[in-house]
Amino acid sequence: MSQRTNILHDFINSPQIYKIIQKIMSGTSFRKKIIKENIKKKNLKILDIGCGPAEIIDFMPECIYYGYDIDKRSIDYAKKKYKNKNYKFFCKEFKSSDLKRLPYFDYVILFGILHHLNNKQAKNVLNLCKKKMKKNSILLTEDPILIKNQNIVAKFLIKSDRGTNVRKKNEYIDLLKTYFKNCKSKVTKQFFIPYTWFTTVCKK
Ligand SMILES: C[S@@+](CC[C@H](N)C(=O)[O-])C[C@H]1O[C@@H](n2cnc3c(N)ncnc32)[C@H](O)[C@@H]1O
Repeated sequence: MSQRTNILHDFINSPQIYKIIQKIMSGTSFRKKIIKENIKKKNLKILDIGCGPAEIIDFMPECIYYGYDIDKRSIDYAKKKYKNKNYKFFCKEFKSSDLKRLPYFDYVILFGILHHLNNKQAKNVLNLCKKKMKKNSILLTEDPILIKNQNIVAKFLIKSDRGTNVRKKNEYIDLLKTYFKNCKSKVTKQFFIPYTWFTTVCKK
């Protein structure tokens, strides 16, 4: 099991509650910053796996967006909020059978998903993503991380996460380097609410 599925985590993952919690936790502003720093051009093709309510659409220039998530509530919410012929949402895992219907992408976004996947699932997703990336396209990842001497509040929050595969830096890097030669990574210690983020910008 890669995700905790108790009543509390189910409640927290309902789109409206998730969005409020992410705002309080500064997850929303953190992801907004990543998008603003990396995605500047219009009309790029974006693939977002584990898109949740697809809030990142609010921060992106006009784009052609494909979002995948296994949570029906999140996909229903996203479909209702982002009605646009250029936005497509799929309530399912991203599988090899999807490859033929998809275009090649400029950016692949994996925000908050790797820690929901075990190594086998994560490698499968990374491999599929790589197959749909253009030559110079970029993979952006963001996840919580466990580090030495971590703030105890951050450690508590991260250990209580719904995703049961929060990794250490070398574990995330090993996973990504299996498919991406060039990975720039960063650990960000958030002061308030205490939290620790691991982000990467990867190329094939
Ligand atoms: C922490 S949330 C991140 C949501 C969004 N990317 C964001 O940054 O706000 C993780 C999401 O991954 C989804 N998820 C978990 N396992 C998945 C899988 N195998 N395929 C697609 N989505 C998955 C969950 O349903 C959840 O919406």
